[in-house]
Amino acid sequence: MSKRGFFIVFEGVDGGGKSTQIKLLTEYLEEKGYDVEHHMEPTHGQIGNLLWNYMRSKNRSFTPETEALLFAADRIEHGNIIKEALNEGKAVISDRYLHSSLAYQGAAGVDAAWMKKLNKHALKPDLVILLDIDPDESLERVQDRARTVFEENEYLKKVRSEYLSYAENGELVVIDACRAIDQVHAEILTYVSKLF
Ligand code: TMP
Repeated sequence: MSKRGFFIVFEGVDGGGKSTQIKLLTEYLEEKGYDVEHHMEPTHGQIGNLLWNYMRSKNRSFTPETEALLFAADRIEHGNIIKEALNEGKAVISDRYLHSSLAYQGAAGVDAAWMKKLNKHALKPDLVILLDIDPDESLERVQDRARTVFEENEYLKKVRSEYLSYAENGELVVIDACRAIDQVHAEILTYVSKLF
C-alpha cells in the first residue's frame, strides 16, 4: 500500500521531553509501516552549522533580526530535503521549525509579521505540536546539559508566551508536557491519528 508522507513538528523550550516523545512517536509510526526521518533545526547543513557554532559561543553579537534571517535561510534549505522525503512517502518529524523563530526571535523583539514574510515559502507542516512546560521546571530538567545563549529563565518565559499565542489561532496544538511520558504520548497520538 502506498502511503502519503506527512510532516510533523515538535516545538517547545528544552526540557519538555521533545526527544523522548519523538522517539515514541517514531516507534508508533514505524509499527504502522511508515519510513520515518528525523530532522532538526538548526539543521546540520552549512547555514545550520554556522548557527550551532554561534549559539554555543559566549559572544552573541548578531542582532535578533540577523538571527531570524539566518534561521529562515537554514529553513529554506531544509524545506528541499523535507520535500524529497515526503515525495518518497516518508513521515518526517522535525525537532523545531518556523515556530521556534516566531517564539525565540519574537521574544527578543523581532516583528512577527516580518518573520512570517521571510518564511513565506517555507513548507507548511501537517501538524505542529507544542510540548508546553513552565521554564522553571524545564530548566531544572536540563540543568546538566550545556545551555545555549537562548536559555535564560526570564527570556524562556517570554518564549513560552509567544508559543502559546500561536495556539490561539490554531497554528499549533498545545500539549501539557508536565505529565507522565505515556500520557503525553497518548495525547500526541490523538492528533497524529487524524493525519492518516
Ligand atoms: P535545541 O534544539 O537543542 O534546544 O537548540 C536549538 C536552539 O536554537 C534553541 O535554543 C532555540 C534556538 N532556535 C531559535 O532561536 N530560532 C529558531 O528558529 C530555531 C530553529 C532554533
